Amino acid sequence: MKLRQREKAVSNPSAVIVLAAGQGTRMKSATPKVLHTMCGLPLVGHAISSAYEAGAADVVVVVRYQRDRVVEVVKALDENVLIADQDEIPGTGRAVQCGLNSLPNTLTGTVIVTSADVPLLEPETIQQLHALHETNQNAVTVMTTIVEDATGYGRMVRDHGALVGIVEHRDATEEQLEIKEINAGIYAFDAEFLRTALGKIDTENDQGEVYLTDTVAIAVKEGRRCGAFILEDQWQAQGCNDRAQLAELRDEMNRRILNQHMRAGVSIVAPCTTHIDVTVEIGPDAVIEPGTILEGDTVIEPYAVIGPNTTLRNVQVGTGAVITHSFLHDTEVTEGTVVPPFTYQNN
Ligand code: UD1
Ligand code: CA
Repeated sequence: MKLRQREKAVSNPSAVIVLAAGQGTRMKSATPKVLHTMCGLPLVGHAISSAYEAGAADVVVVVRYQRDRVVEVVKALDENVLIADQDEIPGTGRAVQCGLNSLPNTLTGTVIVTSADVPLLEPETIQQLHALHETNQNAVTVMTTIVEDATGYGRMVRDHGALVGIVEHRDATEEQLEIKEINAGIYAFDAEFLRTALGKIDTENDQGEVYLTDTVAIAVKEGRRCGAFILEDQWQAQGCNDRAQLAELRDEMNRRILNQHMRAGVSIVAPCTTHIDVTVEIGPDAVIEPGTILEGDTVIEPYAVIGPNTTLRNVQVGTGAVITHSFLHDTEVTEGTVVPPFTYQNN
C-alpha cells in the first residue's frame, strides 16, 4: 500500500496539518479509527493523499491514541510525512498547536487543517479553500456546509452576515442551536496568526478542551478578516464516526471511483457489484464484468476483460488479456493471455 506520486499545484499551501489523535470510540474497535480502510487506503491515507495532491509542501499528522500503530502505517504510506505527538492537553486547538511545533517556527503563508476521518475531501477543494483564503487575505477561513440536522456540529455564528464565531453544539444557546450552517472542521489559516492565536485560547467550555474554533472569535476581536468557504458537495465534509458511516462513505467513494473510470473509457457492466480501490489503474476499452473486485496496485491495460466474479490484488494485466471467475494476487498476466476460469494464482 503506497501513495502515488503526484504533480504539485501552482499555488501551494505551506503545510497541511491532519488531526488524527482521537480514539474514535464509536467505532467500537481495537483498531484506531483512522486506520480503518476504505477503497484501498486507511482513512488517514486518504487525508494525506489529498493534502499532497493539493500541493502541500509539508504534511503533518498529529497522533496520540495508539500512536505507534498509526505512525507505522503513515510512514509506510509516505516516509516524508511529519509526525507530531499531542500531549495530555486535550482539544483540536492543542492538536494543531502540537502540529505547528513540528514545523519551522519561521513558517509563513497558509496552513490548512484537516481531519484524518474525512476521507472524501478532494484536493481541488483544499485548493479552492486555499485560493479563497489568500484572495480575501483572511486570518482564518472555515469550510462550512448547510445541513438539515446540525446535531453535534459546531455552529457558524454570524452578525448581519459577517462571521463572528463558532459555538459547539454543547455550548450553544437555544437560538444558536437553530443555525444550520455548520463547521466542517477544515480550515485555512495565516500561519503567523494561527501561532499567536493558539497561545491565547483557554479551556472555558463544556469539555474543558482547547478549541481550535475559538480562533475565529480571536480574529474578529483583533479586527482581522475571516470568512467561510461554503461547500456544496456535502459528502466531502462528511466525517466518519461509526461503522455504519464508514460503509456509507465507502459506498460513495467507490461510486466516485467507478464514475471516473467510466468517464475515462472503461466499461463497467454492473457498478453496484464492482469494487475498485483508489490505487488501481485501468486503460480505456477494458471491460469490467459483474462481481469484480480490483485491489491494491493492480494495473489493467486496454481491451482486457476482467470478471465476472473475479478478484485481482496487485496484478499487472496486459492488453487484451481475459480473466473470469478467478482470484489472482501479486502476479502478472501477459498481453492476450486467456486465464482458464476458476484459477487461483499468485506468482
Ligand atoms: C469539531 C469542531 C466542530 C466541527 C466538527 C466537524 C472543535 C472544537 N469543534 O468537533 O466545530 O463541527 O469538528 O466534524 O474543533 N482531535 C485531535 N486531538 C484532540 C481532539 C480531536 O487530534 O485532542 C482530532 C480528532 O481525532 C478528529 C478531529 O480532531 O480527527 C476532530 O475532533 P472531534 O473530537 O471529532 O471534534 P468534534 O467534537 O466533532
Ligand atoms: Ca469531540
